[in-house]
Amino acid sequence: MLKPETEKAFCAQLGAELYSSYLYLSMSAWFAAQDLPGFANWLLVQAKEELAHAMLFFDHIQQRGGKVTLGPVEAPPATWYSPKAVFEQVLAHEQKVTSLINKLMDSAVQEKDHASRGFLQWFVDEQVEEEDSVRAVLAKFKFADAAPGGIYILDQEMGQRVFSPPKQNQ
Ligand code: FEO
Repeated sequence: MLKPETEKAFCAQLGAELYSSYLYLSMSAWFAAQDLPGFANWLLVQAKEELAHAMLFFDHIQQRGGKVTLGPVEAPPATWYSPKAVFEQVLAHEQKVTSLINKLMDSAVQEKDHASRGFLQWFVDEQVEEEDSVRAVLAKFKFADAAPGGIYILDQEMGQRVFSPPKQNQ
């Protein structure tokens, strides 16, 4: 059974994951409007992943006998200065999400809440992967910015990303 304060914190994280999805959807729309469909695809896949993360919290809260309460989701920004600026914001946002997940894990450890620890470990590992994949995209901008047509080639590469639903092994 979830403690009331854990239920509240997990519902807040569900909202944070929904905001992440909303933010990446807005970024995807911005790229589509810039005629960069590959980047738009990459962020659309990212938005779907974030929605799936939110649903993992949705399911877990209920599996533990809790009740999901949803709050408002803030409107995301709609415009960016450049493609690279978008990915700088993605990295900053993921680093913020990592700190939110770490705080939830700190509480679970402190409370000796082993079920929450098991559930949250997947998110701890996922954040390592997410930050790494965004850093890899940012690194490619160095080359894309230096070569004529580089952004076009990078856009084609970003178009290859395919969504596969995340699975928790528990
Ligand atoms: Fe659900 Fe990108 O963190």
